[in-house]
Amino acid sequence: MNIQEVASPIDLKDPDKALLWANEANLKRPWRYEFFDLYVNKIKSLNRENIHVLEIGSGPGFLAQHLLQHCSEIQYTAVDFSQAMHELSKSKLLPSELERTEYQIADFKQTDWFTGLGQFDVVIIHQALHELRHKSYATTFHKQVKALLKDDTTYFVCDHVFASDAMQNNQLYMSVAEHFQSLEEAEYTQVELIKDYKGLCLFECKL
Ligand SMILES: C[S@@+](CC[C@H](N)C(=O)[O-])C[C@H]1O[C@@H](n2cnc3c(N)ncnc32)[C@H](O)[C@@H]1O
Repeated sequence: MNIQEVASPIDLKDPDKALLWANEANLKRPWRYEFFDLYVNKIKSLNRENIHVLEIGSGPGFLAQHLLQHCSEIQYTAVDFSQAMHELSKSKLLPSELERTEYQIADFKQTDWFTGLGQFDVVIIHQALHELRHKSYATTFHKQVKALLKDDTTYFVCDHVFASDAMQNNQLYMSVAEHFQSLEEAEYTQVELIKDYKGLCLFECKL
């Protein structure tokens, strides 16, 4: 298959560019926090102890901060390929939150990126799936994520969608139907679209 990747417009490993992204993300899309609240509610509804959350493509730590503040018992692991993003994330967290947090560097475009990370109760990829830089990599990625899941883990996938009133590049972004198809090809069950708002779609999946 000859895949023409879509080049990233920004080098997110560069500390200045990482800061630029962080400064703009919530101003551009303040409704991101509605999605963050949904993760909090879903985690609380698990109603169990020792919940370990993994965020893939965790960025400057907005979701980390929100989850650690609102779910006082969780452990949280952040995976990103950008040390600059991890530094921004660390700077947001209180010492007591940092004690519950682990930072891992991994590049999810590498074949073995998931090796050695462990297994988690909740796995989230929020606004980072398109960083694969082509939609045709999504199914393989979703299959790789399975190595990080326990039998009853919930896998949340939220990204921009390709739609007439949303993103226009259908090489980089998937339609809602394409997201369903990719998750089903990766053999997740109970794939549900649980929020669709202003161009962001959130899917909840089980093994
Ligand atoms: C658009 S930001 C989203 C950050 C965060 N999830 C949020 O919504 O606030 C995408 C993140 O994915 C990371 N990223 C991009 N390509 C990656 C790769 N190949 N492997 C791991 N992380 C990557 C970037 O460094 C960045 O932090």
